Amino acid sequence: MSTITEGFLDHKIFNIVSQAAEKLGVRAFVIGGYVRDCFLGRPCKDIDIVAEGSGIELAQAVGEAVKSNVSVFRNFGTAMLKYHGMEVEFVGARKESYRRDSRKPIVEDGTLEDDQLRRDFTINAMALSLQKEDFGALVDPFGGIRDLAAGIIRTPLDPDTTYSDDPLRMIRAIRFATKLTDGERVFRVVPESLESIRRNRERMSILSKERITEELNKILVCRKPSIGFRLLDETGLLEYILPQLTKLKGVETVEGKGHKENFSHTLEVVDNVAAYETEMIAGGKLFNYDYEDGAEVQRPRTEPYLWLRWAALLHDIAKPATKRYSPQTGWTFHGHEVVGARMIPKLFQQMKLPLNEKMKYVQKLVNLHLRPIALVTEEVTDSAVRRLLFDAGNDIDDLMLLCNADITSKNMKKVERLRQNFELVRQKLADVEAKDAIRNFKNPITGEHIMQVYGIPPCREIGIIKEYVKNAILDGVIENRMDEAERLMKEKAAELGFTEKIQ
Ligand code: CTP
Repeated sequence: MSTITEGFLDHKIFNIVSQAAEKLGVRAFVIGGYVRDCFLGRPCKDIDIVAEGSGIELAQAVGEAVKSNVSVFRNFGTAMLKYHGMEVEFVGARKESYRRDSRKPIVEDGTLEDDQLRRDFTINAMALSLQKEDFGALVDPFGGIRDLAAGIIRTPLDPDTTYSDDPLRMIRAIRFATKLTDGERVFRVVPESLESIRRNRERMSILSKERITEELNKILVCRKPSIGFRLLDETGLLEYILPQLTKLKGVETVEGKGHKENFSHTLEVVDNVAAYETEMIAGGKLFNYDYEDGAEVQRPRTEPYLWLRWAALLHDIAKPATKRYSPQTGWTFHGHEVVGARMIPKLFQQMKLPLNEKMKYVQKLVNLHLRPIALVTEEVTDSAVRRLLFDAGNDIDDLMLLCNADITSKNMKKVERLRQNFELVRQKLADVEAKDAIRNFKNPITGEHIMQVYGIPPCREIGIIKEYVKNAILDGVIENRMDEAERLMKEKAAELGFTEKIQ
């Protein structure tokens, strides 16, 4: 028995597609994520249309009707157009089989049911009819609705077949379990599917790193990324994708003393970052910074910042490499923040992540992640706060968020005390910034200025003078003013034996 769900098809585009399909004499259906998200009450801007016939011809007919450009991808037999903020993708129903050594399928035309059978999960294989006679009828041959209600992720075919067709689906299963689980519902991958993933994990080798990383990024921006990372670990996929992370697992014990379990700790920090970031975004307290025409532009953050999540995931990545035990001090991980920051470029290269300012941001956060907490446990001097503001710049709020998320002791009293002190540091940062504007600090003394005043070519001493002035400002010896900076520059230059050029 089918259910009529016309309400899901209120958008004008569905009637237009329906009429175009009727004219062409083909049956058309909405399928996949849009249908799933409608039932879950989640917003969805991507619509997938499957036609029993040519998807490209249907797209072109719809494009003509709405006067919109159609992008055609002949190699894939798909076409796409944009309409009133929606992205609509068209494909012909296919009966596909895949070669074992490649993702490129052998494609034959098929019926709707053939097409549904070759999709990844039952919850993604539901279709809504666009035929006039049963507009909105649900076509759900594999019990997608039942699985959606029960929070179950299962493949329409034997999982070995579905995963072998496209091994990326192994990570997708885990991604959907992470993404669809929220405060009200829990989604689980069925045990036989998890076993199949474990068995087929080697098949990941035919996938491009870019596709794997894209899925990982989607897991990272979920509400509770730890769900995904635990599943990736349990199925053996993590060992394949990011082996450095699995090295954080386990507790070593010497003389009865064990250290923190760094894998669980890392996942807790990622979840904390996700929760705090969501809260701060809702309160309008976080910003993204860009440069346009040489000027800095600040915009309120409206969605999770992927790179903050990566910084959280990698903040302790060098703990295994720096782990030491001594009977006097117990376990230490000295310098793990510096070693970790140095590991980032190679990790980013390995994951095919961008080697640009995003990578530098992650490096910076990993490098500085202990600094705010050091201020919490030691005495907070203005000069230490100025230095932190100078080193973090506009990323100070993200750094403070990460550092707060990093407080994960089981001793609740200790957590409470650290969090209170943490608030004091936050306040102090705000006070010092309001007074001294260090966040966007620029040394008032430039290299060019020194060269001009003393008539000298570029040399090492210029760096020494600039550093001297910068430190004096950050340490509060002088105010951040040109006249005071100039006085100090002259003092240091004289000490180094320079005399002013007669103008
Ligand atoms: N699909 C599939 N196998 C894949 C990728 C996609 O069977 N490896 C099918 C599924 O039916 C899926 C649809 O194509 O629902 C659209 O894929 P995609 O846009 O990647 O996912 P959505 O389900 O739309 O979900 P999301 O937008 O959250 O990625």
